[in-house]
Amino acid sequence: MASEEGLQKVCIITGSNTGIGYNAAVKLLQNLNFEVILACRTPEKGEAAVESMRQELPNAKVSFMQLDLASLKSVRKFADDFHATGKPLHVLCDNGGFGNSNDDQAAKTEDGFELHMGTNHLGHFLLTMLLLGDLKKSATETGEARIVVTTSSLHDPKTGRGPAPTIDFDNLMLEKEGTYKGLFAYSTSKLANVLFTKELARRLEGTCVTVNCLCPGFIPLTGSMRHASAFT
Ligand SMILES: NC(=O)c1ccc[n+]([C@@H]2O[C@H](COP(=O)([O-])OP(=O)(O)OC[C@H]3O[C@@H](n4cnc5c(N)ncnc54)[C@H](OP(=O)(O)O)[C@@H]3O)[C@@H](O)[C@H]2O)c1
Repeated sequence: MASEEGLQKVCIITGSNTGIGYNAAVKLLQNLNFEVILACRTPEKGEAAVESMRQELPNAKVSFMQLDLASLKSVRKFADDFHATGKPLHVLCDNGGFGNSNDDQAAKTEDGFELHMGTNHLGHFLLTMLLLGDLKKSATETGEARIVVTTSSLHDPKTGRGPAPTIDFDNLMLEKEGTYKGLFAYSTSKLANVLFTKELARRLEGTCVTVNCLCPGFIPLTGSMRHASAFT
């Protein structure tokens, strides 16, 4: 989706102070006519990422806006703050992600959701719904807009390790005794990413807003392994 000459398109990337999100932002700023908003939870990290990108690309139109995907209040505030800028939105990358494969470290978001499901799926679900009108508007004006979701092949029982991820609506937050396993919680949240993508793509047919998800492959040098157990 290279921008046409003269028309700068706006892209929001969640979790872009490091790892895959950071590198995706640099690519968009380097090669394509994009303005990129880094949607990150920690202001110091977000500002440092902006600074580092500006050093590499002095003319880059890049900025930071605070977003904690593990807080629905923060997600709503982010959407309000973005709308207050008056900018259009052409691409939303639902990329930020949390993974902790330790089985004894179950945790919840401030809204009481299991932390993987709350961060990786529900936070992005709400964010996407709140920004969908902006994407549809851009698609009408320019002919296309995109939503890109970073999932993981671990959602697939054929490639995953440990028990196959499932969406158990009677135990969505893995609260039943003995059902919480870190990797299973992560994989299940990534399965939710895939199901969300498929259903949203179906609902957006004919709007020129496309929705796709991807697995980047195993990239151990990002921060994604910071909570990995020794046996992962
Ligand atoms: N690396 C791999 O092998 C691999 C494989 C398959 C899928 N993925 C997926 O790729 C995506 C990017 O991961 P990565 O490998 O680049 O790992 P990463 O370097 O750890 O980056 C993850 C990003 O998500 C952010 N994040 C975590 N919790 C957040 C929250 N509550 N609110 C907002 N941002 C939050 C992190 O912010 P902080 O720095 O503040 O924590 C960080 O910017 C994730 O969705 C991950 O599941 C990665």
